[in-house]
Amino acid sequence: MEIKTFKNSYLSSTKDALKSAFYHENSNERFNEWEFAENLLSSEGYLPELCVVALEGENVVGYNALTKAKIGDHHGLALGPLGVRKEYQNIGIGTALVKECISRAKRMGFSWIALLGGDYYSRFGFESGKQYGITVTENEFDNEHLQILFLDQSAERNICGKLVYCDAFYDDNGNLL
Ligand SMILES: CC(C)(COP(=O)(O)OP(=O)(O)OC[C@H]1O[C@@H](n2cnc3c(N)ncnc32)[C@H](O)[C@@H]1OP(=O)(O)O)[C@@H](O)C(=O)NCCC(=O)NCCS
Repeated sequence: MEIKTFKNSYLSSTKDALKSAFYHENSNERFNEWEFAENLLSSEGYLPELCVVALEGENVVGYNALTKAKIGDHHGLALGPLGVRKEYQNIGIGTALVKECISRAKRMGFSWIALLGGDYYSRFGFESGKQYGITVTENEFDNEHLQILFLDQSAERNICGKLVYCDAFYDDNGNLL
């Protein structure tokens, strides 16, 4: 398995991998993680260097993207979607994708990464955004799942306000994907 920067020729295989990771019976046909990978390519929030895939031969088996985000006036990154093909889960691919993105983001000088997610992310040092007064929607469930990782130990922790993702994360009604 190798980690590579995403390129357009991986798109079809990437969408297959994300569908395998995320598909469920009530998946929205247009606003879902696999369509997101395509929509992102034309988004102002797309950062090509921070969009990576895990390759097994020519096949994409995992995907992770960091995109432009803001909390109040502070510019940073949002993580996701992160997905690994079902039959390749639990063998370290998700971990490798996240670690690669974190190290690239550090090199590029970003100071934080935020995400909506569960316990999986604590292993990388993500912590609850609640203690910093960071929110993402009016919904308490969403806010409970908001996590942040500060990339620079000396980075100021006085970030608070609403996390705003790039346009690709919102549907036509302005709801988060
Ligand atoms: C979540 C996901 C990206 C993890 O990637 P992965 O390659 O399967 O995971 P890794 O092999 O890197 O890590 C495995 C470890 O993570 C844990 N783990 C896997 N999924 C988890 C989850 N959803 N919540 C908490 N822990 C999880 C495993 O129990 C295992 O723990 P261990 O190291 O203590 O044994 C992958 O399982 C996936 O694509 N799931 C479906 C889509 C999804 O939920 N994406 C994340 C959205 S927030």
